Amino acid sequence: MNENKSNPMWGGRFTSSPSEIMQKINSSISFDKRLAHQDIQASRAHCSMLVSCKIINSEDGTKILNGLDQIEGEIASGSFQFKTDLEDIHMNIENRLAQIIGAPAGKLHTARSRNDQVVTDFKLWVRDSIDQTSDSLLSLQKALVAQATVHTGTIMPGYTHLQAAQPITLGHHLMAYCEMFGRDRSRFADARRRMNECPLGVAALAGTTFPIDRNQTSEGLGFDRPTGNSLDTVSDRDFALDYLAAASISAIHLSRFAEEMILWCSPQFRFITLPDAFTTGSSIMPQKKNPDAAELIRAKTGRIIGDLTSLLVVMKGLPLAYSKDMQEDKEPVFDAHDSLNLGLCAMQGMISEMQVHSENMLQAARIGFPEATDLADWLVCQLNIPFRNAHAISAKIVQKAEDHGCDLKGLDLSVMKTVEPRIHEGILEILSIDSCVNRRKSHGGTAPESVRKQINQFNLANK
Ligand code: ARG
Repeated sequence: MNENKSNPMWGGRFTSSPSEIMQKINSSISFDKRLAHQDIQASRAHCSMLVSCKIINSEDGTKILNGLDQIEGEIASGSFQFKTDLEDIHMNIENRLAQIIGAPAGKLHTARSRNDQVVTDFKLWVRDSIDQTSDSLLSLQKALVAQATVHTGTIMPGYTHLQAAQPITLGHHLMAYCEMFGRDRSRFADARRRMNECPLGVAALAGTTFPIDRNQTSEGLGFDRPTGNSLDTVSDRDFALDYLAAASISAIHLSRFAEEMILWCSPQFRFITLPDAFTTGSSIMPQKKNPDAAELIRAKTGRIIGDLTSLLVVMKGLPLAYSKDMQEDKEPVFDAHDSLNLGLCAMQGMISEMQVHSENMLQAARIGFPEATDLADWLVCQLNIPFRNAHAISAKIVQKAEDHGCDLKGLDLSVMKTVEPRIHEGILEILSIDSCVNRRKSHGGTAPESVRKQINQFNLANK
């Protein structure tokens, strides 16, 4: 090959090697080595196709495939030498192939460019990540459902504006997150379906003169079909953006839950105790048990949203087709994958092992006249009072209870009658926390009966 010290893979017309700074800015091997497995997978499919289409002979094909096997073994055992001067994973692997099998290695790159190679590898990687992330989401949902099943009847305050609003069940609260993570899975599934077209074979940007069979490589790599336009194919990173967008939304769900856990385990709430395994102590205050894992989940959401923003900005002004800017697509995705999956596992651990203090939840649910809406509803049903008026009457009764320093049930019937004379003792039946919860049986409501339905629905769909 070329005598100078330029890159052996493309340096044919170069007279000097890239400067050290150039190597530093240009090289991606430090991070794209994570694509090694996918690069080998795609090369195997490409090689087999070249043989079937008689573009290379089967003898060379076998040498290439055996060489790739050896490289895979070297990478798995840690003996593979990744080299910065070979820029990226594609050239590192091809260069090693040449060391192992000699000249036939040069045939692997027939009818292929690094532009279609990188997008194929990356798509395969993102697809694997989606599968892994969806599994983690499902495990987290199962952990939520397990706790929800135990706590269908555990009463806690339901909040709006972070002010106790109406009593709910903990099972209901947990199943709310189960819904969110279910939508996350469906978003990842959408992204997977949309991205599952094979880029391999579009070459640099315009297609190839070789009689390749793109359907064969597509099938071999588990794609639904080959991509339709070569220019779009090498310049498209929508699949990575879809991934990052879905990851960002999932991360905000995790973050919201983390925030609630942080509140719930605080001495002010005392709703739960987080497992020792997911908390830390303070080096100065011996009494403390800090919810660091939850805080870090909340913080990592910032990184993940940053990853999405970063790739959006990289892509926004790029003309067709490939530009080296797009090498910057991988780190945000790797980072989002690592952060999200770590967060999902930590959250699952916290949920499965958290200790619930039902008595504290119940006590908190009693504060702030939580039966006021039920009182208004009773006036509507029993006395045929329009809801708006009933609301006003209920508010006045709440005021009276506040003045008397008691809860609604403790307020004398005679006092209630001063506000609305037709009120009778039938009202006492609905002025209890249990009745507030048990009577909210409407579809999707908080009653244990309704929460059990939500749980059954989940179990049926995820058997
Ligand atoms: N390492 C490159 C990347 O990640 C591979 C593609 C290089 N293509 C090129 N025309 N220089 O984007």
